[in-house]
Amino acid sequence: MAFRTIIEPFRIKSVEPIRWTAPEERAQYLRAAHYNLFLLPSEQVLLDLLTDSGTGAMSTAQWAGIMRGDESYAGSPSFDRFKAAVQGIFGYKHVIPTHQGRAAERILFSVMCKPGVIVPSNTHFDTTRANLEFAGAEALDLPVPEARQPGFEAPFKGNMDVARLQQLLERERGKVPLVMLTVTNNSGGGQPVSLENARQVSELCRRYGVPLYFDACRFAENAWFIKLREAGQADRTPREIAREMFRLGDGCTMSAKKDGMANIGGFLCTNDDVLAQREKNLLILTEGYPTYGGLAGRDLEAIAVGLEEALDEGYLRYRIASIAYVVDRLAQAGVPTVRPAGGHAIYLDARAFLPHLTPAQLPGVALANELYLEGGVRSVEIGTLMFAAAAQLDLVRLAIPRRTYTQSHMDYLLEVILAVFARRDKIRGMVIEYEAPFLRHFTARLRPE
Ligand code: F0G
Repeated sequence: MAFRTIIEPFRIKSVEPIRWTAPEERAQYLRAAHYNLFLLPSEQVLLDLLTDSGTGAMSTAQWAGIMRGDESYAGSPSFDRFKAAVQGIFGYKHVIPTHQGRAAERILFSVMCKPGVIVPSNTHFDTTRANLEFAGAEALDLPVPEARQPGFEAPFKGNMDVARLQQLLERERGKVPLVMLTVTNNSGGGQPVSLENARQVSELCRRYGVPLYFDACRFAENAWFIKLREAGQADRTPREIAREMFRLGDGCTMSAKKDGMANIGGFLCTNDDVLAQREKNLLILTEGYPTYGGLAGRDLEAIAVGLEEALDEGYLRYRIASIAYVVDRLAQAGVPTVRPAGGHAIYLDARAFLPHLTPAQLPGVALANELYLEGGVRSVEIGTLMFAAAAQLDLVRLAIPRRTYTQSHMDYLLEVILAVFARRDKIRGMVIEYEAPFLRHFTARLRPE
């Protein structure tokens, strides 16, 4: 295209007002929320970048699908359309719908893990780690070394450390029931996994007889990065790339709230008939009958359409460009971020942003709170509060909901971050006053030091 500006590839048919708040009001709201942004009512938030999960805008075609949804308890044609869409991309034999990603994780780990086993990943996300630990398994992160250096530019910082995986599989024979690859690597900065890395991991898994599962939440963004950055991939479609990647595995878990472009939903896939039967039995017990699994027929339709839309090149080009736009401008101003830009979010490096705070003083939480006070922006800490001792980094993630905010929202966000950066020396650390036994970040109560 001849023009430099990448525009939003949609026009807006339905709008949702944003509620303004004054700085004094925000200080009061934050105190009432015990300095935990999860505890804020969303009406008190101006730009809600807490998550890209379930917060996107659906298309007219998805809303049309919502009306077409068939709500039969068993054998709904909406399930057939959902299954066909999933199989067209992922290619696995069994497709098991769940109400969201973590339900797929819980079912998978319930049937595959027993206490004492080890499940490696490039980096497990919080719910995946918690579900594994709940099943008595050890969740082991094996990212490539460059993933731990936020400012270091490399094309595939989401990759798994293949040498360490091999050592693990050799040393712990019989103790690793599955290997997981998270695409893109959310906790590691939304960084992609290359096809080459997935091939090597897959080969090792085959050699040691261990199944490989993808945590596929952001598969379309990952495929786009492969197209842009991996040798020999530029002429392929994101769909072809995704299909090749999933052929390397035995199944996947998926949260359709991300690259399914839906507000709710997920699924679990496997090629293993015996496992699928056990998974479906568990599904019936806690989620629902296998042709809806915790979702309404209309949700299945929205996901079937959304999966295709997520692979649209015009959409992916715009999405990745708008995130890179923010990251590039922050870099020019000297603000430390994870580089290069990730697929679904901007990640501020809170340890480098607030070098006067130790990880125990929760720099990510302190920074996230300041972004809220400054401009009403809600983000999430991915660091010591979320992962305790397992935290490798302290990041603040500004997740961009799909098709929801515009370029001027991104410019506003930049102004807010730069205003906080200008007064960073004065930002104090945080202290935890209450914490739950697992996934403590959701409900913790805190206070400034
Ligand atoms: N795996 C990854 C990589 C995720 O990012 C998430 C959710 C899940 C699994 C679980 O899916 O929410 O549908 O149960 N991540 C959201 C986030 C919550 O904000 O990144 P879910």
